[in-house]
Amino acid sequence: MKRILLDCDPGIDDALAIALAHGSPELEVVGITTVAGNVGLERTTPNALSLTEFYGMDVPVARGADRPLLRAPDTASTVHGATGLGDVVLPTAKAEPDTRHAVDFIIDTVAASPGEISLVAVGPLTNVALALRKEPRLAEWVREFVVMGGSYTRGNLTPAAEFNIGADPEAAGVVFDAPWEPVMFGLDLTHQARATSEVRQRFVGLGKLQEELLSPCLDFYGSNRQYRDEGPAIHDACAVAHVIAPELFTTVRARVDVETSGRFTSGMTVTDFAPEAEHNALVATALQQRAFWDLLTEAFERVASSMP
Ligand code: RIB
Ligand code: CA
Repeated sequence: MKRILLDCDPGIDDALAIALAHGSPELEVVGITTVAGNVGLERTTPNALSLTEFYGMDVPVARGADRPLLRAPDTASTVHGATGLGDVVLPTAKAEPDTRHAVDFIIDTVAASPGEISLVAVGPLTNVALALRKEPRLAEWVREFVVMGGSYTRGNLTPAAEFNIGADPEAAGVVFDAPWEPVMFGLDLTHQARATSEVRQRFVGLGKLQEELLSPCLDFYGSNRQYRDEGPAIHDACAVAHVIAPELFTTVRARVDVETSGRFTSGMTVTDFAPEAEHNALVATALQQRAFWDLLTEAFERVASSMP
């Protein structure tokens, strides 16, 4: 059993990543922390609370940073909708967020179980950067740190920057400069995880989960011009899947530096695979697609059969 703490900005693909984590018997979700990203914190936090109750999860949710370290907030509401979940409206959660700030929740949770917590970040890295600044030993205490972000080819926020990195490049720089070895799931990998019509056929029959969440969310997400040809890329679930089944992925050691000052390249994850480079990360390059979708479908089936 692996214990996972998920920092996210739900967000449609974040919602599927949460379902994957919940539906996987290999994982115990010890907490969810929210950050401003796809939409503002005033949406990502209630979205996380509503999603956990919709799925039937009893997991603390702690709210985090409502803006990047230095830059003005940006959103991806054109991709995820004004609410962050497309046109899906879930029941308002009964639970309140944890009383702690996400940064303190992350530090407390990891410090209480050194070597046991898989920290997975699938939104802008503001919370993780602040946690590292407040408690630098976080980098040695985590079991692993897995991040959905970046790209070693082109971005989606700009030609150079992927959204999670480009939304808060200074935070991403703190995170990649810390003394740990992030496992980076950039767009090069996540664009191999497309929810095609063939894949989505596997979700038919999942009842309320399919009808009230998966189908409307994937319809909305897939309508975005960047996904129209092959179906939406389920970015965030890739990072969670690596915690469950790392054997589904090919990863390569590399040097990753985050550009923070380029006029056209700010937020770029400058990735050097050269053997002589001073490697500081593992970068995911290939996905076993069939096995990935088997994993997701089985997890969604478990969620669907246990939902309230
Ligand atoms: O670029 C994709 C990433 O940005 C995903 O995490 C998506 O949820 C958005 O946050
Ligand atoms: Ca996200």
